Amino acid sequence: MANYVPPTNKALSGVRVLDMTHVQAGPACTQLLAWMGADVVKFEAPTGDITRNQLNISVDGKRQESFYFKMLNSNKRSITVNMKSPAGREVFEQLVRKSDVIVDNFGPGVLARLGYPPATLHGLNPGLVIAAVKGFGAAGPYANYKAYEPIAQAMGGAMSVTGDPNGPPTISGAFIGDTGTGVHLAAGVCAALFHRTHNGGKGQEVEVAMMESVMNLCRVKFRDHLRLQGGKSALAEYGPPTLGLTYVPRALNDSGGGHVGSAIPCKPFGPNDYIYLIAQAQVVPVLLKEIGLDAGDERFAAAGPRNKNQNELWKIVGEYCKNYTKYEVTARFNELDIPCGPLMSTEEVVADPHVAFRDMWPVVDGHPDGPYNTVGMPIKLSLGNVDKIVTSPGLGEHTEEITKSVCGFSDTDFKRLQESGAFTLPPKK
Ligand SMILES: CC(C)(COP(=O)(O)OP(=O)(O)OC[C@H]1O[C@@H](n2cnc3c(N)ncnc32)[C@H](O)[C@@H]1OP(=O)(O)O)[C@@H](O)C(=O)NCCC(=O)NCCS
Repeated sequence: MANYVPPTNKALSGVRVLDMTHVQAGPACTQLLAWMGADVVKFEAPTGDITRNQLNISVDGKRQESFYFKMLNSNKRSITVNMKSPAGREVFEQLVRKSDVIVDNFGPGVLARLGYPPATLHGLNPGLVIAAVKGFGAAGPYANYKAYEPIAQAMGGAMSVTGDPNGPPTISGAFIGDTGTGVHLAAGVCAALFHRTHNGGKGQEVEVAMMESVMNLCRVKFRDHLRLQGGKSALAEYGPPTLGLTYVPRALNDSGGGHVGSAIPCKPFGPNDYIYLIAQAQVVPVLLKEIGLDAGDERFAAAGPRNKNQNELWKIVGEYCKNYTKYEVTARFNELDIPCGPLMSTEEVVADPHVAFRDMWPVVDGHPDGPYNTVGMPIKLSLGNVDKIVTSPGLGEHTEEITKSVCGFSDTDFKRLQESGAFTLPPKK
């Protein structure tokens, strides 16, 4: 992608992000900022973000850059800098001066070890928003632990409440610890940028810990924890018995919300042939009639018995559903205003006309490997998003351009920095 030019008329136009992130949690944040118009400078060690070379595939015998990298780093420019060389630090410091936000998701203490704790960064640029994803935060008993998605899900409560009550705890396929944390961080960055406009231009630190982001996303499970009252109270809407439990159990596909719900198999009974149905109180009489029961059936009409007898209800709905595909049931139930959706595989999601209409599986052009699809922008700003998702940058593709046009170094300086090893690793001895 030659010369990506960040847009000038979008929500975050004029905001420069020094993006020191890697893997998923941090890049998910900075990609959202890029899609809202920020100029995101992906600042990589000369070895590059590790995901460039993880989970790669080959097409026609040619190894491609990984989709892991491509799908998290669009609309960014890349510079490689060796922070462990004095010349590299010179470039870094100049970029700090020229940026509004710095984002990292390094392991515990990395930036400080490199010589840049927050006070030093604010010394270089008092307006800088210093944003970081950490596994567990900069302080506290777990501050020195590294974190990956499943660890955050395990420690934030999510894993213990996911899966079959009679089986092992299960990690969610939605990456709530990584991308979920990135989304939280993007909200914090936008708030800090807004704060800067009316606090004399002062930057501040924004930190999101993965464990805490997972806890936030499990908020309603902690609601249920409180409702258990240390074993004195039951969760009536859960299928499995809960009286006496002091922790929230796994409940397979129970909705766990104010209305009971479940996944019900449909014709032709493949691994993803299910609907998810919510027995929303106001439409229960309609649902009962549609599945051949009396609208006032005393097992199901009122919430109390319905909660207690929900497994029986799901069996009867299953008898109805076995004659139809998930799409047929969905269409019929939605006609009746009954909340219901088909369970969609990844294959079905990306081929879905609604997904296409919403531009959530766009084609990205411009990568040397050829065009590819990505998951689109879920935050729709009517004025503020980039017009087009643009491919992820090659490693160091914009090093010279950024050094000169952003940092303001001359041709001679660039050459000097280059020769002093600012952008590369020293040769192996
Ligand atoms: C994800 C994680 C476990 C990876 O661990 P890791 O591969 O050991 O990487 P770290 O972030 O700990 O360290 C990065 C190293 O690269 C070095 N580095 C980074 N950028 C550099 C640059 N431009 N030039 C030279 N060195 C650089 C750092 O100095 C550090 O080296 P050090 O350990 O000698 O201090 C860790 O980064 C982490 O816990 N991050 C926070 C939580 C998180 O985001 N996890 C989810 C990832 S999706």
